[in-house]
This record gives sequence, C-alpha cells and structure tokens, in this order.
Amino acid sequence: MKVIQVNGHGGLEQLECVQRAQPTVKEDEVLIQVKACAINNTEIWMREGAYGDGHASGWKASGVSFPRVPGSDIAGTIVSVGKSDHEHLIGKNVVLFPFISSGAYGVENLSEDLAFIGSEVDGGYAEYVVWPAHLCFEMPLPDFKESCVFSVSGLTAWHMCEQVQIQPNDVVLILGATGGVGLFNVQIASKVFHANVIALVGNLDHEAQLKSLGAHHVLSYKSSTLVEDIKKVSGGKVDIVLDVVGDALFSTSLQVLKIGGKLCISGSIGGVKTHLDLRTLYLKHISIFGSVLGTVPEYEKLLEAVKSNVIVPIIDKTFSLVQAKEAQAYFKKPGKLGKVVLLVD
Ligand SMILES: NC(=O)c1ccc[n+]([C@@H]2O[C@H](COP(=O)([O-])OP(=O)(O)OC[C@H]3O[C@@H](n4cnc5c(N)ncnc54)[C@H](OP(=O)(O)O)[C@@H]3O)[C@@H](O)[C@H]2O)c1
Repeated sequence: MKVIQVNGHGGLEQLECVQRAQPTVKEDEVLIQVKACAINNTEIWMREGAYGDGHASGWKASGVSFPRVPGSDIAGTIVSVGKSDHEHLIGKNVVLFPFISSGAYGVENLSEDLAFIGSEVDGGYAEYVVWPAHLCFEMPLPDFKESCVFSVSGLTAWHMCEQVQIQPNDVVLILGATGGVGLFNVQIASKVFHANVIALVGNLDHEAQLKSLGAHHVLSYKSSTLVEDIKKVSGGKVDIVLDVVGDALFSTSLQVLKIGGKLCISGSIGGVKTHLDLRTLYLKHISIFGSVLGTVPEYEKLLEAVKSNVIVPIIDKTFSLVQAKEAQAYFKKPGKLGKVVLLVD
C-alpha cells in the first residue's frame, strides 16, 4: 500500500511517499481502507519536533518512533476483520475515535498510556490503517471528506465546552475561531450549549460565515483596541475563554474575563510560554483548565450532533494523499477557514 511517512524530526523533506505491506489485523482490530484524512497541527508539530522544550520531541515525553505514518482524522471503509464475530462490519463506512487508552469509559483522555493515532501508532496518511473495532463509529454523513473532519478538533472542542460547563447565555470568547478547533468551539458553544459567542479571528472577511455558524460577534485580534472591543460587545463581562492560541492572547483573556471567569486552554499556536501576573489570577478568582482531546461519550454526542446537522463540516481545501507536503505547507498559512483534507484514491 502507499503511505506518506515521517522519517524524523525536521522540515517537509521528512515526509516521504513509500510502498509498505498492508498492516496485519489483530483479533479485536479491523482493517480500514482510508478514503479521507484531515490534517491537524499535532502531526505537523510532531514532524517539526515542536513539542520539545529546547529539544525536538513529539507530544509525549517518550518521543516518536520513526518512521511514523501521521494522520488522526480518518474516514474510510472496513475491508477485513480480525475475528468472525466482526464479519458484519465488513463494508461499513466509519470514522475513527482518535486514540487508544486503558482509561475507563468517559475518562479515556485522562489515561497516561494514551496512544494517539498518527503519533504513537501509524495513522491515516495511508491507503489502509488498522484500528480496534470498538473505536470505529458509523460515519455521520454520507461523504467521506465531510465525515473525516470531526474526530480530533471536534472532539477537542466538545470536551472543552463540557469541561467548563457552559451554561445558556454565558458569554464565551473563542480564540482561533477560524481554525479547526475554534470553528467547532463556535458551533458547539453556540448551537449545543446556547452560549453568546464572541469569535476572535485575524481576518474579518470570514465574519458572515462565522455568524452563520453561530457567532454573535466577530472581532479581529489585530485591533489596536482589542480589550475595549471585547468589553464593548460582551457588556463588560466574559464568562469563559476557549483558547487554542496561548501566549499571543493570554493577557487579553485575563483582562476581559469577569471575576470568577474560566479560561480553558487546549493549544498554543500563538506561543507556548507566557507571562502570568499571579495577582490577576487570584484577585479575579480566575480558574484555568488544561484540556486534551475528549472522551468516547463526548465523541458519541458529537457524532449525533453532526448526523442531525447541528454541527456542520467546514472544509477550506482538499489535496490528494501524494500532495501531503503541499497540504501541510498550506495548513500553516494564516487566513484559512476550516479544515484541510487529504483525499485517498
Ligand atoms: N489539546 C488538544 O487535544 C488539541 C487538539 C487539537 C489541536 N490542538 C492545538 O490547538 C491549536 C490550534 O489547532 P487547530 O487545528 O485549530 O489549528 P488551525 O486550524 O491552524 O487554527 C489556528 C487558529 O489560530 C489562529 N492563530 C494563529 N496564530 C495566532 C496568533 N498569533 N494570534 C491569534 N490567533 C492566532 C488562527 O487565526 P487566523 O488564521 O485567523 O490568523 C486560526 O484561527 C494548536 O496548537 C494545536 O496543536 C490541541
């Protein structure tokens, strides 16, 4: 089978298209013919080694074993199974819950042995992938390209919204709102949790589309009066900030949060280290939450919301599998709206 593998930490030259034997299916696994795989920042930082603090590293301290096939947002068709009990699954179109762990149902993402597909095990930049049968779920939409985009960023966003327990009419400020996680945060906070959403973006060209997805206000983080802009539209109080940006907007988040406000951080695309004046934190009774991926029950709720068209896929651009280098380069460009997807013939 054809795969794109990462040979080591470094630039795009570390992505190589090679032929490999199809993976062998163990008893509780199924073999999936990959039809579409969306790109996430995780596999780009994994290749770049950008998770390390002064040294190249994957997202886990234990490092990445190369060569590794990246890709964690996968939709495809089950073509063979490891045991006869699973034969009824052959031919089913599925999406893949994106990690394996020993964590109990509902707390899977809190387990130390979490193995993320595309990082700790081979992923979806490939014609075939193996995965545990119980972590394959019925495809939520008829189209592979549209179905593949939810597993990582949608799950992460759903978990963030549940973690901070958004209440109806809460004012929720969403950073990185044009991106993979941010666009789902906008939709989920607004359409599922009925919050009053302020979306923060670089380019206001996308304002109308963000409003159609549930944002009540859209502001540019490039404004020289950003804190005042947010205070004005929020009536002076933001209940919750959902953050994938990190340092670039950390001070802004603390300034606009109300007393007792909550800041939930799942990414740091705008800087991994920051300055924190502890007085702001305690004088405003602010709670900070760290967040990684989500749980199986959250994934099930997410897929139901997709099936009923409450949450919709937004795709910026598609590439073929062999264009993985171009696709990853494109992913890093600012100003996109939504996911970048690899289509596998
Ligand atoms: N914890 C987890 O489980 C988890 C899961 C998925 C992703 N993540 C992390 O979340 C982050 C975002 O991932 P993504 O897939 O959503 O990425 P993405 O699709 O590339 O979106 C990034 C967003 O951040 C904005 N942005 C980038 N630099 C910025 C800056 N300096 N100031 C303000 N906004 C900035 C972009 O806005 P413009 O394009 O409008 O400028 C865009 O909306 C990454 O750090 C990723 O590793 C974490």
